Amino acid sequence: MVCYLSCIPAALFVIPMHFFHVADAAYVVGEAISDRESRTVDDVSCRESIIWIFGNKSVGCSSDIYTRWMMSTGSNAQGLAMHTILITGANRGLGLGFVRHYAAQGMTIIATCREPEQATELQALAEQFSHIAIEALDICDYDAVARLSEKYADYCIDILINNAGILQSVDTAYDAEVWLKSLETNAVAPMILTQAFLPQVKRSAIHKAVFISSSYGSVELTTAEGSIYYRSSKAALNMAVRRFVLDYTYLELTAVCLCPGWVRTDMGGVNAELSVDDSVAAMVTTIAGLESEHHGQFLNQYGDFVPW
Ligand SMILES: NC(=O)c1ccc[n+]([C@@H]2O[C@H](COP(=O)([O-])OP(=O)(O)OC[C@H]3O[C@@H](n4cnc5c(N)ncnc54)[C@H](OP(=O)(O)O)[C@@H]3O)[C@@H](O)[C@H]2O)c1
Repeated sequence: MVCYLSCIPAALFVIPMHFFHVADAAYVVGEAISDRESRTVDDVSCRESIIWIFGNKSVGCSSDIYTRWMMSTGSNAQGLAMHTILITGANRGLGLGFVRHYAAQGMTIIATCREPEQATELQALAEQFSHIAIEALDICDYDAVARLSEKYADYCIDILINNAGILQSVDTAYDAEVWLKSLETNAVAPMILTQAFLPQVKRSAIHKAVFISSSYGSVELTTAEGSIYYRSSKAALNMAVRRFVLDYTYLELTAVCLCPGWVRTDMGGVNAELSVDDSVAAMVTTIAGLESEHHGQFLNQYGDFVPW
C-alpha cells in the first residue's frame, strides 16, 4: 500500500477530498498516471490498486466520468485489464476477425462499418459481448469521421486499427476515377481518420495506431505485374505513415504499418495461405509487443520488418 500511495501524485492530496466524488478522484489519479506515459510494472500495479481502492467504493455510483475513466484507463470494475480499440471495416474479413479476437479478450471495441444494418455477424458479436459499440462510418466521408471523433471526444482509445481497404483491378486501361478511389480509401482516409482521433489515442498510455498495409505496397518487393492501383495506394499509405510518425516519439504514439499476410477473405480469396483467425492472432500478438524500435516501421503479421 505504501508503494501504491507513493505513486499517487501529490496534487491529489492538496485538493480537499470532499470536493471530489470518489470516482472523480479516481479519474484524476488515473489521468495523472496516464499523462506520465510510463508503462512500468509499478505504474500498472499502481493503477490497478487505485481501481481497487476507489473502484470498489464506487459501487452504485452513476458517475459518467468514472465509467469513462474505466474505459479510458483500460479497467473494469473488477480491476481487470481492458483496452478500448477502434477498428474500421469491422463488418467482415480481417476487421471482423479483430473484433472477434479482442471481444473475447474483454476489450471495449468501437467497431465501424459502412452499413451496420447489413453487418449481421458483427451485430451477433455485439449481442454476445456488451462492450462492442457499432458505428456507421464510411472512412472516405470526412464529415462523418469528424462527427464520430466528436462523439467520442472524451474517450481514450488505446489502439486504433485502420483496417478498411479496397482492392480494385485494372480493366482494359487505367481509370483515373477508380485509381483515385483506391488512393483515397487506402492512403488518404486512414490518415484523416487517425488525425481526427489523435487526441483520443494520445490520451492513452498504450497509444498505438496501426495501419493495415500490404507487402504489395513494398517498392522493393514488387517484382510481379498487376494490382497497380492497390500497390500504389499501399505504398502511398506507407510513405504517409512514415512521414507522420516523425512528428511523434513513441512515448506519445506508437504507429506502424502492418501486413496481415495473404489471408482468406473476400479480398485475399480462397487460395490464400492464412485463415483470418491465424492472421489476426499473429497481428494481435505483434500489436501487443510493439516497442520503441517498431515505431514508424513496416512489419508483417509476425512482427518481422518488411522492406519499404
Ligand atoms: N486479405 C489479404 O490477403 C490482405 C493482404 C494484405 C493486406 N490486406 C489488407 O487488410 C485490410 C482488410 O482486408 P480484408 O482482407 O479483410 O478485406 P475485405 O474482406 O475485402 O474487407 C474490407 C473491409 O474494408 C471495408 N471498407 C472498404 N472501403 C471502405 C470505406 N470507404 N469505408 C469503410 N469501410 C470500408 C469493407 O466494408 P464493406 O463491407 O462496406 O465493403 C470491409 O469491411 C485491408 O486494408 C487490406 O488491404 C489484406
